[in-house]
Amino acid sequence: MVRISTARRQYFGTFFLRNRPQLELIRRLSNQRGLGFTLKIAFLGCSNGAEVYSILRTIRSRRPDLKVIAHAVDISKEILEVAQNGVYSLKAPQLVGEPIFARMNGDELQDMFDVDRARDEVRIKTWLKEGIIWHLEDAASPELLNVVGPQDMVVANNFLCHMTPPTAERCLRNIAHLVTPTGYLFVSGIDLDVRTKVALDLGWRPIQDLMEDIHDGDPSVRGDWPWRYWGLEPFNKRRRDWKLRYASAFQLGVQCEGQISSPQTGSRTLERDSKPKKTYPLKISLFGNFGQGNLGNDCTLQAILYNLRQRRPDVELNCICTGPEAIATIHNIAAVPIHDIFVTPGLLRSNPLARFLRKVFIGIPHELYRWLKAFNTLKGTDMFIVPGTQFLSDNLTGPFGWPYMAFKWSIAAKLRRCKLLFVSVGVGPLRHPLSRFFVKCVLLLADYRSYRDDLSRQYMRRIGFDSTHDPVYPDLAFSLPMPPIPREGHCTTGKPVIAVGVKDYHGQYGPWPLQHHPDDIYRHYLDKVTAFVAWLLEHLYTVRLVIGDASYDTQVLADLRKSLNERNVKHENLQVIDEPIESLEQLVSQLATSDIVVSPRFHNVVLGLLLNKPVISLSYHDKFVSLMDGVGLAKYCQPIDHLDVDELIDQFIEIEKNAEDLRPFISQKTEEYRKALDKQYTAILKDV
Ligand SMILES: C[S@@+](CC[C@H](N)C(=O)[O-])C[C@H]1O[C@@H](n2cnc3c(N)ncnc32)[C@H](O)[C@@H]1O
Repeated sequence: MVRISTARRQYFGTFFLRNRPQLELIRRLSNQRGLGFTLKIAFLGCSNGAEVYSILRTIRSRRPDLKVIAHAVDISKEILEVAQNGVYSLKAPQLVGEPIFARMNGDELQDMFDVDRARDEVRIKTWLKEGIIWHLEDAASPELLNVVGPQDMVVANNFLCHMTPPTAERCLRNIAHLVTPTGYLFVSGIDLDVRTKVALDLGWRPIQDLMEDIHDGDPSVRGDWPWRYWGLEPFNKRRRDWKLRYASAFQLGVQCEGQISSPQTGSRTLERDSKPKKTYPLKISLFGNFGQGNLGNDCTLQAILYNLRQRRPDVELNCICTGPEAIATIHNIAAVPIHDIFVTPGLLRSNPLARFLRKVFIGIPHELYRWLKAFNTLKGTDMFIVPGTQFLSDNLTGPFGWPYMAFKWSIAAKLRRCKLLFVSVGVGPLRHPLSRFFVKCVLLLADYRSYRDDLSRQYMRRIGFDSTHDPVYPDLAFSLPMPPIPREGHCTTGKPVIAVGVKDYHGQYGPWPLQHHPDDIYRHYLDKVTAFVAWLLEHLYTVRLVIGDASYDTQVLADLRKSLNERNVKHENLQVIDEPIESLEQLVSQLATSDIVVSPRFHNVVLGLLLNKPVISLSYHDKFVSLMDGVGLAKYCQPIDHLDVDELIDQFIEIEKNAEDLRPFISQKTEEYRKALDKQYTAILKDV
């Protein structure tokens, strides 16, 4: 009634830190940007700038590496001047009736402003003021896109409600042109019927994250319902269309037809698709050996998380993995163990009878419980994804390790009617017949499967599985966003910086059965690496020592250092850089500041290539040969079991000489891989 009967007019009213859950969502979405990327954001109806500065503070304080370019637009010249000046009276802010500081505490005030108590005014700090372009413009103008340009995020809050519904609808459609495909639009303070209609017509994807909190996050509009026309109705989950009606953040330019639970607005889209394929949120479980310190596996996980979130920001993720605590902390997602341990096996291992009794009375019931738990965990899950890595192998665990666990969880997933996907996986070795049986079963059950190299596909063929029509896509780590890359390493001698990777290599994955004792294999490997590093140091290169597994490789570094000391290699102190690596970010930044990478860790080779570095790989598995061959570096690969230091030095001299010629080819290949993986992500998310 109040909407129909009251005349509408514009206001300047605003607050600093107006809607905190909305700020948090903006922070989370901007967090999806890779290290050092640029974020373009536009504010429409910016009033005195309170909203602009609040959002910039949220992004910049958490992501100082992001380059944020902001455009702020208002139709009123006088309020735009206030915004641009960024100086506000504490007692009576110019032109705005609202107590604009009422939602801030003292610390936040200090953080954002230089306070001048004598004059009773505050001045916005420089770090918030820079990088903003102010425009006197009408958000409904057809020129808007030319003036502001395409944006990753557009914020259009609390001014469309002051227009009549037809005018607001026209204006909102005009604003939507600013948002780049897969970009985000935040639009609150608008008639809900208008927003719902436009969102449906244009196929916007509503973001469910923090939706209810954002709805209730601005007391002034919620409190004014039902007395003022801008008042916001209570969040009502009994409405069939609530997931769309109450969303105020959307992702644009992504396919989402049929994915919204039936609104009752009687639009054409709904009449056509009255049985939606999927209601929100999409629930995906990721499965693998993650969170144990293996940075290669973790970078695979990070790559798929980044890409899923990028394409489906509303996705609800659960990671079923070996190190759930670490994964939950690092990635801020739910995580559960692959395999619960109830009794330490060592306790009852003393004699055969005890072992038998343990199996019958403890082992079997617990295993039954694990099956039930797997089934329970996957309740409501839409997709169960095994992303990359060499999980489908019994090399380290035997048949009842990885192969059986993949089998158990895949069966549980199928019973739960989840889509089962194996995405760019590596396979083999599978030495035990039972392992082959488990792996063949799970790949047969899969709704989608792809391998990370032809080697894995051929391997499946050789063990009697028809993989002829299965696609091969690059390793998922090639879809990781990379920071802008510094070209030069930190060199102390004028010569390049060489990242030398290590691995706790004891013959695992090598020829089977082992020809030598694991300790001898390790000693042999270490001696060769020591000799190579010694040569580098003697020739005045700076060596940066890097690991690929935070749990296993640190001891190797210590052994290498000791071994170098024993050889009495003369070098400057600064010639060996040995900084801690506990996270993927640290590993990437260390590789980025090197010129050439030499590594026995598969994903350090991948990361080196992604960073456009010439790489020499020390290979313990044919997957290296396949990877290096793909990027034209096959001749810079050495089998780790037969390391020949002279040959390695020759390879090194050659790659250093050819480095500048190799770089364009490497970057072209990694770009091709990224595009291929983009295609794969689109394909796997197409029908959900
Ligand atoms: C109520 S304030 C909202 C400020 C801020 N967006 C917020 O949510 O706190 C509305 C602002 O929108 C501006 N405005 C109204 N119509 C506009 C239009 N067609 N184009 C650009 N700005 C407009 C007004 O001048 C006013 O400054």
